[in-house]
Amino acid sequence: MLANLEMVKALLDGAERVVVLTGSGVSAESGIPTFREADGLWRQFRAEELARPDAFAEDPELVWEFYNWRRELVANSEPNDAHLALADLECVVPEFLLITQNVDGLHSLAGSRNLLEMHGSLWELQCTMCSWRNEDRTMLSGVPTCPACGALLRPGVVWFGEALPPGVLNQAIRAIAEADVFLSVGTSAMVQPAASFAQLAREQGAVTVEINLEPTPNSGLVDFALHGKAGTILPRLTGALCA
Ligand code: OAD
Repeated sequence: MLANLEMVKALLDGAERVVVLTGSGVSAESGIPTFREADGLWRQFRAEELARPDAFAEDPELVWEFYNWRRELVANSEPNDAHLALADLECVVPEFLLITQNVDGLHSLAGSRNLLEMHGSLWELQCTMCSWRNEDRTMLSGVPTCPACGALLRPGVVWFGEALPPGVLNQAIRAIAEADVFLSVGTSAMVQPAASFAQLAREQGAVTVEINLEPTPNSGLVDFALHGKAGTILPRLTGALCA
């Protein structure tokens, strides 16, 4: 592990183009439950049961209760050492893109700028009927309605089975195609299309690195698999680079 850490650090030191993909594991040390681990349950529900259009159509109150709980949890959380290390890395790499599956906004709070939030944001509200869409960081209760047309509002996040925002996938694929180094951090690599990014990066010539608490389906195909907490490993990779 130590030798691998040193090699990855050296790689990042010389890299011109770096793409990072993050998942919910990067926010775990901020106290935000991940999607598929045991602490991901809210009441008796798995996040996957509620983060879907059919769940919202059936019971918008329940789905909003879940999102209002998550908004409050995130509002009371702070970026951790993993988020901060990635913001630092951006400062020293000439071309850097951070692609996140997270909707919590903690990367931008940590200072990341070139950021692609591929699953949207908890802090966006969008109308289910008209084109109204807005950022709203206030704490909500119940089901909010559209100020323009009165229809139900929904969280501005991508739910299971929904398409990614236009252009997002192309932007990710273009950056991956040019990357020297691709880092995957805190994601179980179970949800497409992000789960295939490591393989795509490898095929396009990038050196690929996984940083995750436990092995994932991608661990065997990446060049370096570093297993442990992102908040411990990432600062060890980026610390001296940014000093
Ligand atoms: P998962 O819950 O599937 O995976 C989180 C991963 O983070 C697991 O493999 C954990 O081992 C790892 N992990 C936990 N704590 C960690 C730590 N401190 N440091 C490093 N790794 C840690 O979540 P995602 O992979 O993010 O999509 O899930 C991907 C997408 O599936 C989500 O964006 C969401 C979802 O259901 C939608 O809602 C559309």
